[in-house]
Amino acid sequence: MSRKPFIAGNWKLNLSVEEGVALVRALAPAAAAGKVEVAVCPTALCVYAVAQAAAGSAIGVGGQNAYWEEKGAFTGEISASHLKAAGAKYVVLGHSERRQLFGETNETVNKRLKAVLAQGLVPILCIGETLAERDGGKLETVLKQQITGGLAGLSAEQLGTLVVAYEPVWAIGTGRTATTAQAQEAHAFVRGVLRSIVGELADKIRIQYGGSVKPDNAKELLSQPDVDGALVGGASLKAADFIAIIAAA
Ligand code: PGA
Repeated sequence: MSRKPFIAGNWKLNLSVEEGVALVRALAPAAAAGKVEVAVCPTALCVYAVAQAAAGSAIGVGGQNAYWEEKGAFTGEISASHLKAAGAKYVVLGHSERRQLFGETNETVNKRLKAVLAQGLVPILCIGETLAERDGGKLETVLKQQITGGLAGLSAEQLGTLVVAYEPVWAIGTGRTATTAQAQEAHAFVRGVLRSIVGELADKIRIQYGGSVKPDNAKELLSQPDVDGALVGGASLKAADFIAIIAAA
């Protein structure tokens, strides 16, 4: 089963509108070959300007989160429909920073995912274990709960565009990366859980690896059969590094 590699940059709370626009312009030629799907996920405030700058290029733009209600009295929230109107195609959901710092649960991730799908946007569902969970032998339990909880109530037909990002929490922003064997093992497990939920579609779903992906480790990680791309944080903020990761894919 050939899956098109998908490299997405998660800019987190970094880059101003000007900086984001400059970066996406610098990245455009590297995505033009079209062999790799490429996206950048700026802050919500920058989505519109970055999407305008990326228009006509092969780079898609994503949000980093979306509230489950479309509109109303929800001060400070951003909806999937607003992200879409601003030019977004993807939305990152359930990132470990949301789970750890902002009280995100599998249940709230599930509500957000439904809202994102209802707008025809592509959800990037982030899952991953903490070091304590891995050391405590809970890796598979945690991943299974995050997948089944995040996808609850959704059918294979609804999940046709789903992307999953496996991001071990202990590897995010730490400079520590999962070994290629650890990544492949976790990805194969994730695909198995997906298969139990969506059947054959599991073979089409891209599973990105995330957690300190850099130009020097990208090729090896991406060479694994179940690693279909990367969700890149720190290294997505520098054009040269992100371009090298796209090239590795
Ligand atoms: P990192 O972040 O590449 O800086 O480790 C990855 C992520 O959080 O998506």
